Amino acid sequence: MNPIRPMTRDRLPELLRAMPKAELHIHIEGSLEPELIFALAQRNGIDMAYSSVAELRQAYAFTNLQSFLDIYYAGASVLITEQDFYDMAYAYFVKAAGDNVVHAELFFDPQTHTARGVSIDTVIRGLYRACVDAYAKLGVSGSLIRCFLRHLSEQEAFETLEQALPYRDKIVGIGLDSGEVGNPPEKFARVFARCRELGFHLVAHAGEEGPPAYVWTALDVLKVERIDHGVQSSKDAALMQRLASDRIALTVCPLSNLKLCVFPDLASHNLKQLLDAGLAATVNSDDPAYFGGYMNDNFTQTFAATGLQAQHAYTLARNSFEASFIEASAKRRYIDQLDACFATFA
Ligand code: HPA
Ligand code: ZN
Repeated sequence: MNPIRPMTRDRLPELLRAMPKAELHIHIEGSLEPELIFALAQRNGIDMAYSSVAELRQAYAFTNLQSFLDIYYAGASVLITEQDFYDMAYAYFVKAAGDNVVHAELFFDPQTHTARGVSIDTVIRGLYRACVDAYAKLGVSGSLIRCFLRHLSEQEAFETLEQALPYRDKIVGIGLDSGEVGNPPEKFARVFARCRELGFHLVAHAGEEGPPAYVWTALDVLKVERIDHGVQSSKDAALMQRLASDRIALTVCPLSNLKLCVFPDLASHNLKQLLDAGLAATVNSDDPAYFGGYMNDNFTQTFAATGLQAQHAYTLARNSFEASFIEASAKRRYIDQLDACFATFA
């Protein structure tokens, strides 16, 4: 049965909100809302450079990735205790549940915290406990992907990998984030090879601001299974073919691309071009507290601006389950739920 039927455009936002989906590209530190930043600063006795939530929010005007990262790392500095990490992640899961996100794979940046003297145990214990509670209380499954900061050295990545080895069973994969241009994937060739030997799933940010060459080396040198962002791939026809034929998922984040000026407006976003070329694109929120929206905001605003339709919604949601790092039986179950949801809109 083909669950996709033509539908009037006015029911599309309702469908986008209702359909079950997985989020595969969310930096949990990027879910820290200004209100929670202020509450945690107060709880931990930290002085803020901003006098109010409104003033902090006003600073969220970015010109590129680095202008965002400077504020994002400053925001994360209020996270001190295990409970802080728990509260941040659980607040995300509550929003996710409201958006019918049934599974989420959370990036976190241990080096941002260990550099400030917060132990990796504190970070992982808080995040992991939030994942356990999210499943028990909200029915959202969650897993953790630890990222290496690519503006730091490969040696530092090896050191942070070592620190987290006792928590191997609580981490599903390894990612690569932070300032892309000038820090190509191959800088981390040996540490990714080691992570691969250890049995982690591998992903990397590539082709967000950086060139298609970075996507090639993420695939061929790091041997990643998914590309985070990857929107610059449309500049290289051979790369587009490779991504399509190998079914490499791209975790696309439209509102992030808009806020970081990767595209001048949402109508110019290339998500439809990627889907039409047969790529396994997905929609994600990246850093929702900073970029103006969570999953359903990304879906509804992008669909409104680009003219994507119900069949694209189905493909995007289905891709999110197929590209996730969950067991085949769980994927099947979620895709059955997706089909059932579309059947009710037929
Ligand atoms: N790109 C790179 N690093 C990041 C991002 C991003 O969009 N968000 C948080 N860290
Ligand atoms: Zn990202």
